[in-house]
Amino acid sequence: MNVEKIFVVGAGLMGSGIAQTAIVSGYQVVLNDQNQAALDRAKTGIERALTREVEKGRMTAGERDNALTRLALDVTLEGARTSQLVIEAIYENLEAKQAIFSSLEDVCPPETIFASNTSSISLTALASATKRPSQVVGMHFFSPVPKMRLCEVIFGLLTAPEVLETVKEVGEKMGKTLILSDDKPGFIVNRALLPMLNEACVIVGSNIGTVEDVDNGMKLGCNHPMGPLELADMIGLDILLNVMKVLDSEYGEKYHPSMILRKMVTAGFLGRKSGAGFYIYENGKKMGVNPVLTQIHAL
Ligand SMILES: NC(=O)c1ccc[n+]([C@@H]2O[C@H](COP(=O)([O-])OP(=O)(O)OC[C@H]3O[C@@H](n4cnc5c(N)ncnc54)[C@H](O)[C@@H]3O)[C@@H](O)[C@H]2O)c1
Repeated sequence: MNVEKIFVVGAGLMGSGIAQTAIVSGYQVVLNDQNQAALDRAKTGIERALTREVEKGRMTAGERDNALTRLALDVTLEGARTSQLVIEAIYENLEAKQAIFSSLEDVCPPETIFASNTSSISLTALASATKRPSQVVGMHFFSPVPKMRLCEVIFGLLTAPEVLETVKEVGEKMGKTLILSDDKPGFIVNRALLPMLNEACVIVGSNIGTVEDVDNGMKLGCNHPMGPLELADMIGLDILLNVMKVLDSEYGEKYHPSMILRKMVTAGFLGRKSGAGFYIYENGKKMGVNPVLTQIHAL
């Protein structure tokens, strides 16, 4: 299928990154959110990010302006009617995602592809809420979407091969390398990555090493471009916790979320987006370790 227009549901961290990458790659995009303020924030963020690209000489002002003409914002689902591909990127909850897909069922023609950016939810379960299970597929982008080169494509039990072909073409046009995963919780990347992030939390929570030493250890000792706790803050500690819970329920103890991670989320430390996680952030800039964690080491 030839995709020209993409309807992105959810204008948070991932949805706005997907929308930005798609408009720069030549797609028409309607970015949807139930919250007008989230749409306004996403638009300002995309404009700012593209202006930075112009300042760095990676894009001309004309290319930026052209890309921005391809972006529309909408609190309704109407734009999905004329889109060939929907990419859902709302919060990680099966019922909420199923509700979106079943509302879109009445709006979209039967051939429209429903993709989800879910990190952990079964595509087969999402497909079961639709009358088009063969058109449901996972397109798992990574954060920040404009920079990260991977898109994990996940096939549910009933996903049609032509749908995999179409999303592969779209992903490649968006500059991504695609890898293919069966529909098993965590898919490929998170299944391998999350135990490492969780264990980094355990190390801090059990007073074995400081936040900075854990991050420096993995950066300098394993050549990781960022430390696991910096990465956890960037992903969002609430998102990380939710995904760990899904993996825990499927695979058991190895994926049991650490106590410190659960406590941080309960205390409202959600990472970069809330201004504090393992580190404190001001205007998006990392200022130092969250003092509540330095107290652990002072005991
Ligand atoms: N954060 C990451 O690093 C990351 C990476 C890969 C995949 N994901 C997945 O991407 C998805 C989104 O994550 P995020 O970090 O962008 O979340 P987020 O909290 O930043 O954004 C979610 C957005 O969805 C909107 N929303 C909620 N319900 C809605 C509805 N019914 N209709 C329309 N909009 C609605 C919210 O208003 C919010 O703006 C999740 O499934 C997550 O697991 C996240």
